[in-house]
Amino acid sequence: MSKPSHILRPGKRTAELSENVKKQFSAPSSVKNVLPEFDIPKHDSILQCFAAVPRGAEELTAAELNQLGITDGKPGRGGVSFSAKREGLYRANLWLRTASRVLLKLTSFSASSPAELYAGVHAIAWQELITPEMTLAVDCSLRDSAMTHSGFVALKTKDAVVDRIRESRGSRPNVDTASPDVRINVHLHNNVCTISLDSSGESLDRRGYRLERNEAPLRETLAAAVVALTGWDGSIPLADPMCGSGTIPVEAALKAAQIAPGLHRQFGFQRWIDFDDELWNRLCLEAKEAIRRLPVGLVTGYDLDNRALLLAGKNTFNAGLEGQIHYFHAAMQDFKTDSDKGIIIINPPYGIRLGEEDDLRELYCQIGDVMKKQCRGWTGYVLTGNLELAKYIGLKASRRYVLFNGAIECRLLKYELY
Ligand SMILES: C[S@@+](CC[C@H](N)C(=O)[O-])C[C@H]1O[C@@H](n2cnc3c(N)ncnc32)[C@H](O)[C@@H]1O
Repeated sequence: MSKPSHILRPGKRTAELSENVKKQFSAPSSVKNVLPEFDIPKHDSILQCFAAVPRGAEELTAAELNQLGITDGKPGRGGVSFSAKREGLYRANLWLRTASRVLLKLTSFSASSPAELYAGVHAIAWQELITPEMTLAVDCSLRDSAMTHSGFVALKTKDAVVDRIRESRGSRPNVDTASPDVRINVHLHNNVCTISLDSSGESLDRRGYRLERNEAPLRETLAAAVVALTGWDGSIPLADPMCGSGTIPVEAALKAAQIAPGLHRQFGFQRWIDFDDELWNRLCLEAKEAIRRLPVGLVTGYDLDNRALLLAGKNTFNAGLEGQIHYFHAAMQDFKTDSDKGIIIINPPYGIRLGEEDDLRELYCQIGDVMKKQCRGWTGYVLTGNLELAKYIGLKASRRYVLFNGAIECRLLKYELY
């Protein structure tokens, strides 16, 4: 699923749109209820879900779902469709490391016009999901469709939702984009509109451990995808000699310590009317009982920047990993190891956001030298958004994976170091 291109802002009303847009899109009241009523899934129903995933990591998320016992995951562009009961939906939010949000699909219908959109949204029994006292927000993404104004689609959806609630309950809920009780997701593709509830709320890369940001941190979900692609299982050392704020070591350690990445945060579904507190507490307890302590020296991080290392320490503490990742103020060029096996993951600056390309050529040459001379028997990985610079590593990559760091297309390059 593509990134939401529009989020409905509070106070944005039809009146703010141009007269032309209003004329083009105003829905006659006669189109209301032309679609059959759509019933809300009941407590024990099988739910149709979609894990939205940064591009390149879809197969990894499907494998993660499989480990959670959800075996029907179908990876597609930008996400994985799967079905689960409510427990599976909660579990997916709590445990998925590589997905950015989990949507619960309510319905989909053809919508080439605002009238069809309005009717399709209005046919959902929203009053069973949202009371007038609750707040809502609508996120919209669209492509290849007759309606091209994502702001308007979000607005029209909101109108149909609040009208339906007002008709049934006598008053309507308000919009709150910052922290809504219910976040509605509208996805329009080839004139087919899919309406979902966003069960995650805040995106899943917000684990709750990173309170401050350094200059160029990786997204947590991307760092988790990198660790997953290395196949590291926690039995040999993992080192990040340019660790910055420690995202890679923290994500690796969370995985090895079997800490659920969502254990320290809240989710959208916790504010839904049908939230099952007992079930959720049981899943959290189960997750806490699964945690194990990591041996000294298993996961290490190094950086030249003391401020970054300070953040890495704070993130590690907040993630519940105090004393389990060891950080060193050291240059990557001085990296040495006593272990004959291990995984080294390097995320160097790549000239787009940090440093300039010319200065970085020498650094990439040194990365190649360190891996070749000081990491014999290890497997090396370099994550970079700059393929020109990557050539200066001077070693032959045995595999290349395409991943996205936000909008930046990156490569994870794998090196067998004999
Ligand atoms: C792209 S950032 C890494 C970001 C990190 N993955 C994170 O999530 O915060 C590159 C890091 O390399 C560090 N660095 C640059 N040159 C270095 C060197 N020669 N030795 C060690 N660290 C270096 C920088 O201080 C910076 O923190």
